[in-house]
Amino acid sequence: MGLMRSAFLAGSRSAWLRERATRYGFVRRSVSRFMPGERLEDALAAARTLQERRTGAILTQLGENVADADEADGVRRHYLDVLDQAAARGLDVQISVKLTQLGLDLDQERCLAHLTALVERAEGRGSFVWIDMEGSAYVDATLDLFRRARASSARVGVCLQAYLRRTPADLEALLPLRPALRLVKGAYQEPPDRAFPRKKDVDEAFFSLATRVLGQARGEAGDLLAIGTHDAPLVERLREFIAGHGVPESAYEFEMLYGIRRALQTRLVEGGGRLRVLISYGTYWFPWYMRRLAERPANVWFVARNLLSG
Ligand code: FDA
Repeated sequence: MGLMRSAFLAGSRSAWLRERATRYGFVRRSVSRFMPGERLEDALAAARTLQERRTGAILTQLGENVADADEADGVRRHYLDVLDQAAARGLDVQISVKLTQLGLDLDQERCLAHLTALVERAEGRGSFVWIDMEGSAYVDATLDLFRRARASSARVGVCLQAYLRRTPADLEALLPLRPALRLVKGAYQEPPDRAFPRKKDVDEAFFSLATRVLGQARGEAGDLLAIGTHDAPLVERLREFIAGHGVPESAYEFEMLYGIRRALQTRLVEGGGRLRVLISYGTYWFPWYMRRLAERPANVWFVARNLLSG
């Protein structure tokens, strides 16, 4: 793993750094490239603009590892409100949640109750709940809660990370459920016995996992692969596979992050592809932003430019 990447991922876990860095205007200005704003209102406005460009949205309020139950209750209330507001405005908006933000570290059953309440509301509003995948210590609990929520509704999907060595086995165990899955490369710092350290291996694992799902997809209700990457050559390879194997259109969609590879996003939509963009908002953006810098150290130049121009 590159030194820069390790440093940013270590920085993402530092409360000391978060405290200080978020006070600086140049850091905040750099973040705005990836975030339309801190308020829900900003995210909903961005979702409307995306909808005008035939692109769906997924909203996520930044936050993880909440340390008290009241906070987790507040997160549940917040997301219920997001689902209501999006429906009232006629927006094609889904939500994406981190289970540790819903109190997974505190009480697993209560976390499940929060998740189930969100899935029920999504069902009522014609929406959908995605569960993010966090560090590898949370994979078992996350998949367990996903299965339990999925038993009562198909309006919930879970993220799998291609960099983890265990993911092919997790995928095989999940496939009989005909689940909605979001495949991503993985954004956390993991030891080499758990995750492939080399980008090339992660990319190959992604292709192999994606084609495993797409190769057997029938496009039935609930059965969806969200291809979560901005990697243009990988997207191209997968599009060739999809065309060559007659994969039904309803069986997959592309998902990308707000502000990243906008030209690729536009090309996909103009070429008739289905795209959803994940919009993050909220005040707790520091660890998340460090992970974005770790993915692409060239982003550091945006921070530096904002420092100089500020
Ligand atoms: P890769 O990192 O190889 O990047 C390919 C190209 O995309 C780069 O060359 C660059 O051009 C561009 N790019 C990528 N990241 C960029 C950045 N930060 N800034 C500017 N350009 C960038 N992870 C996780 O562990 N758990 C999760 O739940 C999720 N959820 C999630 C949802 C969605 C919708 C997406 C798109 C991604 C996630 N991720 C995630 C993040 C994911 O694991 C991964 O870290 C990023 O998507 C970056 O990897 P790429 O697949 O884009 O490839």
